[in-house]
Amino acid sequence: MNMEFKNEIRDNDMCLNDLAQMIYDFCGLNYLGNLSSLASKVSKRLSVLNMSYWEYTEFLKRNQQEWNNLVELITNNETYFFREESQLNELRDAVLPQLRNKECVWIWSAACSTGEEPYSLAMTIAESGIVPLESVRIIATDINKKVLQIARRGWYHKNSLCFRRTPKEMLDKYFIPQDEGFHIKSFIKDRVEFRYANLLDDEDMAAVEKVDIIFCRNVLIYFDSVTTRRVVAKFYDRLNSGGFLFLGHAETITGMNINFATINARAAFYYQKADVESSAF
Ligand SMILES: C[S@@+](CC[C@H](N)C(=O)[O-])C[C@H]1O[C@@H](n2cnc3c(N)ncnc32)[C@H](O)[C@@H]1O
Repeated sequence: MNMEFKNEIRDNDMCLNDLAQMIYDFCGLNYLGNLSSLASKVSKRLSVLNMSYWEYTEFLKRNQQEWNNLVELITNNETYFFREESQLNELRDAVLPQLRNKECVWIWSAACSTGEEPYSLAMTIAESGIVPLESVRIIATDINKKVLQIARRGWYHKNSLCFRRTPKEMLDKYFIPQDEGFHIKSFIKDRVEFRYANLLDDEDMAAVEKVDIIFCRNVLIYFDSVTTRRVVAKFYDRLNSGGFLFLGHAETITGMNINFATINARAAFYYQKADVESSAF
């Protein structure tokens, strides 16, 4: 390998590292230790734009809009209806009964992807009959604008893997067959409001109303512990006294020294905001 070629590879690696750092700073996704994965995700975009890594990082600095295209390439949007059902059962059996006297129950599905999670929450609540669905407001946010469009439409192809855990009776009750798929019934859809929010953006986080329950599942696994702590501290801030936090089963905040009590239920664990006013519920 000649010297010039070696230098070119080194410069390219450095610029890829800069791109990974920009992504980390912007949204917390940590590609710094996995540059080859980042390279494969952005390579097509770079050839469409005919840009080197260096040119692309400069382009991103000048073009806020380009972040939307990049986010579509670097986020994993895998999700499905009734994911981690044991948590939904816990919501129904242990959490909702504690909130039944509230005039309005606020829930936040943070990093909701294409909407299966917030819609599953609405269906679980409707099914439970513990809290009237009309008194529930679900805010569902994500950083990827394309998945939010799909979520707002509320239509899913019948062969999609998103139905892999959907019981037939739930499909019959809460969906309308349409074209080659199923549309969420409007009384469920109307309970969910989809919004753009970057979990690392203080303004986006502060714009979310105070809520009683947060579901933030299967996104903290992509963050390092510093970012996770920062995001969970914001969740603490957005939760009402005694509010509940559900994370994915592979995600934990134990040892992060944020004032949450861990609730170890039989089939799931979750967290409750611990503070002096927690008896207010
Ligand atoms: C694997 S999906 C999880 C979807 C759903 N919560 C679930 O558990 O099925 C992760 C989602 O997190 C979103 N995401 C990643 N980084 C984010 C950030 N900084 N702010 C908001 N959403 C983010 C992605 O766009 C993606 O839709």
